[in-house]
Amino acid sequence: MLLKLIILMILLFAKEVSARSIEDRFPYKFIYKPEFKKGDVNSITITLIVKSAVPNFRLRNAIRDTWGNENQNIPNTNIRTVFNVGLSNATKLAMESYVFEDILQSDFQDSYWNLTAKTVMGIRWAMEMCKSSDFFLLSDDDYLILLKRIVDYLRRSGFHKNDPLYIGYFTSRRPQRERGQKWKVSYEEYPRSLYPPFVVGGAVVLSRKGLEAMSQGIAKAQYIRLEDVFLGLAAETVGLKPINLSTVSRYCIKNQLFSGKVDILKEKIMVSHGFNKASDLEPYWEKLKSQGIV
Ligand SMILES: *[C@@H]1O[C@H](CO)[C@@H](O)[C@H](O)[C@H]1NC(C)=O
Ligand SMILES: *[C@@H]1O[C@H](CO)[C@@H](O)[C@H](O)[C@H]1NC(C)=O
Ligand SMILES: *[C@@H]1O[C@H](CO)[C@@H](O)[C@H](O)[C@H]1NC(C)=O
Repeated sequence: MLLKLIILMILLFAKEVSARSIEDRFPYKFIYKPEFKKGDVNSITITLIVKSAVPNFRLRNAIRDTWGNENQNIPNTNIRTVFNVGLSNATKLAMESYVFEDILQSDFQDSYWNLTAKTVMGIRWAMEMCKSSDFFLLSDDDYLILLKRIVDYLRRSGFHKNDPLYIGYFTSRRPQRERGQKWKVSYEEYPRSLYPPFVVGGAVVLSRKGLEAMSQGIAKAQYIRLEDVFLGLAAETVGLKPINLSTVSRYCIKNQLFSGKVDILKEKIMVSHGFNKASDLEPYWEKLKSQGIV
């Protein structure tokens, strides 16, 4: 009898482990779940999922008019942009969601150390809603994205939605272990001495196939608060290899553009970090427009 009981428990436990899905691991609910708008079937479709903090209304609006604009001038390309937020008490969000239909909100608390949950909810939404999207860009609201250059790169490379793609600027890094470091991780949270290769920060390109692989990896990978490292772990779990986009671009921050240290015309930059003010983004975008870059 006791043996039977033990075996039964093993069976129950085994079932639970194998059945663990992305929904079981991140059991949050969607509050606003925007529709995916189907575009022209002969074009490629890219979906931008932009992590944003609830109070950043002004910044989201600037993105809607600049790099996240669904009607920007990129030939044969359907663009869908959604903003990915967590819970907060801001009631303005309901109106914003009603007007723009691009707010993706889930019911976890919106905080910096919940960015992994936010990233995962973006992927859950994409898996469920964007069946006809070829590519995905996971980004943040403090970025500048030159989408035209990214789309050109994907086309030039001959990439297809069924290629297992996980693309961006990536490095191999050691966990920070020192007290006071911003991304300090304890040995309990992450025992290994090296992170797997992961796309750093807020510009990750996935193909549809890459998204599916990532989703399977997320269900199994070890949890870590650092959302970009977590995607690297998820990718490693399923053998999805990152592609370094730096051959055609490189990681860049706003100050390097504004000081002229980096020449955006010469350097073929595709993304830049540090655009956390609408008043920086909007005029800079106009400048890029006048130079024919966007
Ligand atoms: C919203 O406000 C209530 C009351 O002030 C508070 O208890 C709750 O934690 C807040 N929720 C969030 C997500 O900030
Ligand atoms: C993340 O969200 C969950 C669910 O709302 C909450 O219980 C938890 O405290 C949050 N974690 C952090 C670090 O903010
Ligand atoms: C990716 O490219 C950048 C820039 O050339 C380089 O610094 C980095 O080491 C590369 N990453 C890997 C893993 O090779």
